[in-house]
Amino acid sequence: MTTPHSDSPGTAPALDLDNAPDQIVAATTLDGLEKLRVGLFGRHGLVTAQLKQLGGLSPEQRKQQGDRINRLKAQLQQQLAARKTELETAELDQRLATERIDVTLPGRNHAIGGVHPLTRTLERIVDIFSRFGYDVVEGPEIEDDWHNFEALNFPPDHPARAMHDTFYFPDGRMLRTHTSPVQIRAMAGRQPPIRLIAPGKVYRSDSDQTHSPMFHQVEGLVVGEGITMADLKGTLTAFLRGFFERDFQMRFKPTYFPFVEPGADVVIAWQLPDGSSRWLEVLGCGMVHPKVLANCGIDPERYTGFAFGMGLDRLAMLRYGVNDLRAFFENDVRFLQQFN
Ligand code: DAH
Repeated sequence: MTTPHSDSPGTAPALDLDNAPDQIVAATTLDGLEKLRVGLFGRHGLVTAQLKQLGGLSPEQRKQQGDRINRLKAQLQQQLAARKTELETAELDQRLATERIDVTLPGRNHAIGGVHPLTRTLERIVDIFSRFGYDVVEGPEIEDDWHNFEALNFPPDHPARAMHDTFYFPDGRMLRTHTSPVQIRAMAGRQPPIRLIAPGKVYRSDSDQTHSPMFHQVEGLVVGEGITMADLKGTLTAFLRGFFERDFQMRFKPTYFPFVEPGADVVIAWQLPDGSSRWLEVLGCGMVHPKVLANCGIDPERYTGFAFGMGLDRLAMLRYGVNDLRAFFENDVRFLQQFN
């Protein structure tokens, strides 16, 4: 709207009853319009002043002037109201235009946590063995000598005990150094068939890039009639190929663990980025030692079994290409977010 004074309100002509309708139409803000209303109908307003004068007139004149003033009053009020509605509508339009909400914008992100790579790794392992029909069991992290060592055929003072840098309590108990004691707990007081995995935390006094004083293992145990080394090999081959989702050469390298006979380290030919490959140890295994079965009240003449134990952290490092074990335990979000 263009009016002579709308751009420069300071130069607007003084309000009088003749120019009031024009000034009302020319008002560009609700504030300006309110000033006009006060100028007309306020205590010192022009219309108010006219109404006050009526008192001093003769009855004849009062009737005549009264009619005129009332008509003027009604006309100006109606104009004020109409302009007010226009200005309010314009203001609302303006607000709707500037404060528009784009409902198609994506919402603000709330950081939701992810599943820790070690938990993911464990879930994969549990998933694979569950499909093989294995139970998942757990044992205590504080163990006694019988379960952690002796029943597993580590006699007292046997040098194999020195392979584990054990954290002892003053009463002779210890933080378990491996998950193998869960084998003993699972077999004691129970008869085959037994088919289980036992994941959990284990502890050794050892700390560097590839060793942490607390780490995770998954133990496996199968006991029944006619279980052979071929079952062990078939099971672990199927597991490792499923776990890594790729094919590789595997070897069972004879080695010594007191609780199995024969015992083996499983090594796989791990492809390196440059195309070459390296033999990597991924787990230990073997046929359950007859003495271990006997220690748990299972007849070794009738039953045989195999066992295996693997480092969860190590499998996670290989699968996700992590080269420092400590990254799993530092909880740096930048590291963890890469697994979401
Ligand atoms: N307990 C062994 C360790 O911590 C790993 C292991 C090796 C477990 C051979 C087994 C097995 O069940 O048969 O080094």
